[in-house]
Amino acid sequence: MPAEFDRYAAGGYSKILLDPIRGRFAGAQFYFRRKLILLREFCRQRGIETERADWLDVGCGDGGLLKMGQPYFRSAAGCDVSEGMLRECAGLHVKQQDSPRRVPFDDASFDIVTVVCVYHHVEPADRPALTADVSRVLKPQGLLCIIEHNPFNPVTQFVVWRHPVDAHAHLLAAGVMRRLAQAAQLEILTTRYFLLFPERFYSSLAGAEARLSSFPLGGQYAVFCRKR
Ligand SMILES: C[S@@+](CC[C@H](N)C(=O)[O-])C[C@H]1O[C@@H](n2cnc3c(N)ncnc32)[C@H](O)[C@@H]1O
Repeated sequence: MPAEFDRYAAGGYSKILLDPIRGRFAGAQFYFRRKLILLREFCRQRGIETERADWLDVGCGDGGLLKMGQPYFRSAAGCDVSEGMLRECAGLHVKQQDSPRRVPFDDASFDIVTVVCVYHHVEPADRPALTADVSRVLKPQGLLCIIEHNPFNPVTQFVVWRHPVDAHAHLLAAGVMRRLAQAAQLEILTTRYFLLFPERFYSSLAGAEARLSSFPLGGQYAVFCRKR
């Protein structure tokens, strides 16, 4: 059965994503850049050298984060259930998933796994098995970073509500995401809310955004976990 996102890939995913509110907040590349800043900053604080890490992006879509992020890692790979989205990943090491619950890589093969804006598109019944399989491909002590829309942010709610790509989305609060990770035997390290200030203010307000990151204000959040 074709994956839901094959349809959006066929129409040009980046064009479908265009939204006046989203666009006024930040340019398309900033959303990826901000996530890489968050991930690399967290790794730096924890003494994790990303240049020596093998990275997997689960639900990589058309590879936007991978393309921007791969220079910072020893290796970068991706996977997704949508063949159409993966067709946009030319030049990247990507594999198609044959199941929404399985990640097509060997046990303990990655130091860092990211799952970005994916879970709200995953059927609730598939989420525990997907999380357990994400944990399977992490090396012991490996880092998992799950990024999701913050359902407590009214602008996020509004953008999701009106956007066709999110027609079947079910947003997850950070607490729900943390419980899923804990059930997969992952240790929760921290939760950080971000995308609080628009791109044009970010460079002057990055410090304020960091200080407010434990409050559920930003448009998205990241749950950082470690494999036991
Ligand atoms: C909103 S897009 C995000 C893509 C990318 N992570 C990004 O941030 O641009 C959601 C992606 O999740 C993928 N997806 C949905 N269910 C999935 C699952 N169970 N496993 C892996 N990917 C999935 C979709 O095919 C789609 O490419």
